[in-house]
Amino acid sequence: MLYELFDNVHANSAELKQSFEYLKNDHYTKGPHKFRFRSYSTGKWIKNQMHWSQAVKPFFQPDSINVYLGGVERNYPALEAACKEFIQSTVSQLVNLELVPKGDYDVAGHQIRVAAKQGEEVSPTPEGYHQDGFDFLAISSINNHNISGATTKLRELATQEEIYSNALQANTTLVLDDRALEHFVSPFSPLSDGRAFRDVVIITMQKRQA
Ligand SMILES: [Fe+2]
Repeated sequence: MLYELFDNVHANSAELKQSFEYLKNDHYTKGPHKFRFRSYSTGKWIKNQMHWSQAVKPFFQPDSINVYLGGVERNYPALEAACKEFIQSTVSQLVNLELVPKGDYDVAGHQIRVAAKQGEEVSPTPEGYHQDGFDFLAISSINNHNISGATTKLRELATQEEIYSNALQANTTLVLDDRALEHFVSPFSPLSDGRAFRDVVIITMQKRQA
């Protein structure tokens, strides 16, 4: 499996949608306008069950992986229950439908809103094409509100060939092999007057050694 797109509308609750309104500013984004809002938790998927870590560990990526914020320990508020439930359900689907190999995983969940103001263009992936540094990655679109742009693109690491280019629709999840592919989301701006935002949940999965 290089990548797979699937529907998970049933896992996406009204509480989850609403919880994006309460996310806190991501103070690590650069520039005067804070356009990203974020929560983060980690856990383990063992014997088909999710075990969330109580302590919130900082999120860290090395320079080699993230040229934008590599080498920075980032502290974010923990995920709320609705988001944790969504992640559990999505990981269960991924493992049980064998979209990822069966087994135990270290899991991290990121709940992210990227917002744009009138006349503004924002970039969901300011670091450009990148890998997250795990075995698998699932990007779930929860809500797209009044946005123009934000095309998700995948290319093969080995050949640099683009193999996917589409705007993710709400209630769909794109799962991908983070070892073989790089991903990127193009900038977006408001489609018309008023608020504009893109709400996603990103799950990273790293196979645990037996
Ligand atoms: Fe990423």
